[in-house]
Amino acid sequence: MIKTKIVQINRDNPDEYSLKEVVKGLRVGKLIAFPTETVYGIGTNAYNKDSIGRIFQIKKRPTFDPIIVHILNNYQLEKVASNIPEEAWKLAERFWPGPLTLVLKRHPDIPANVSANLNTIAVRIPKHNIASLLLELSKVPIAAPSANLFARPSSTTAKHVLDDLNGLIDYVIDGGSCQIGIESTVVDLTKEKPVILRPGGINFDDLKKVLPLISVGPKYIINNDGKDISSSPGMLLKHYSPKANLYIVRSNLLESIIKFIKADALKNIENGKKIGIMISNNEIKYFKDFNAETVTLGSETNLNEIAHNLFECIRKLDSLGVDIIYTKIFSKRGLGLAVWDRMFRASEGKVIDV
Ligand code: TXA
Ligand code: MG
Repeated sequence: MIKTKIVQINRDNPDEYSLKEVVKGLRVGKLIAFPTETVYGIGTNAYNKDSIGRIFQIKKRPTFDPIIVHILNNYQLEKVASNIPEEAWKLAERFWPGPLTLVLKRHPDIPANVSANLNTIAVRIPKHNIASLLLELSKVPIAAPSANLFARPSSTTAKHVLDDLNGLIDYVIDGGSCQIGIESTVVDLTKEKPVILRPGGINFDDLKKVLPLISVGPKYIINNDGKDISSSPGMLLKHYSPKANLYIVRSNLLESIIKFIKADALKNIENGKKIGIMISNNEIKYFKDFNAETVTLGSETNLNEIAHNLFECIRKLDSLGVDIIYTKIFSKRGLGLAVWDRMFRASEGKVIDV
């Protein structure tokens, strides 16, 4: 165990001075958790093979799951990627800085273990004052996976990071809660046609306006049957998992969803199980006097709010020690596709049609 130092920084006006020690550490291979607009990352110098190796170890991340490299600007893109296609510049112009990650050919200067020995590299320019300042002062690209233990929900606050990684990393920069709360969209530009490997902060429809041929990759997102595991490395079905069993209840009728959750929960309560319910503002009233821990994701129609609260709600229910979590399906439009993907994987495919 090492002592993890917490550095408080104001997101709106981060000052260089408080980052001095962290920047020095980052350059020589220390591990630093920092906020981005999506989720917190655990970052290290992307040229440092050893500290990248340590990230895999402490996260218990399988070595076949490649890591995203964060850069400051388009100039740095040419230092981490080679043979950059026209599509990349188009997407960069429209969506960077922002929650979009591009998979390109890896530049030979970037150590292979960042990319799990693939010849590609995933890269993005984050849109967050603290992340930008860290990149600017460090003068190196930062390799950073999400700051959680492998297969656990991503961290959207410094507290979440500490819950998973206290004593395992050198610093946590506490810059408050991440604005979006769900990870970046990953787009592969190394294939014949552009493919979305992971839905995220940038919507499919917006990407399609720039690249009309783009499609959504992982099959299970489309089939919903829980049987397909995609060909994308790291896109495992079990992911973002709470300690509890999560069930997604699906129906066109809200009434049926509420009825099912209550009946099924009662059976489980009789068997000594502790129940958690994760639902929108509009539905919380149905569970007012119910023997369960309830958390609200936000307003049904505000998918930004639901995305923002999702990991926080899952972690909250876990900390309350529930055995079973019930949630319902939300719209898959816009950011809803990413919400659905995370919920589906957190449930390990446990969708109940009623
Ligand atoms: O928003 C985000 O993307 C956050 C913040 C910290 O930037 N990062 C993040 O990293 O979510 P991580 O490691 O949790 O997820 C990275 C995803 C994985 O699904 C991984 O398989 C994929 O990106 N990925 C990374 N490099 C890749 C590559 N070379 N080819 C294909 N997929 C890659
Ligand atoms: Mg992750």
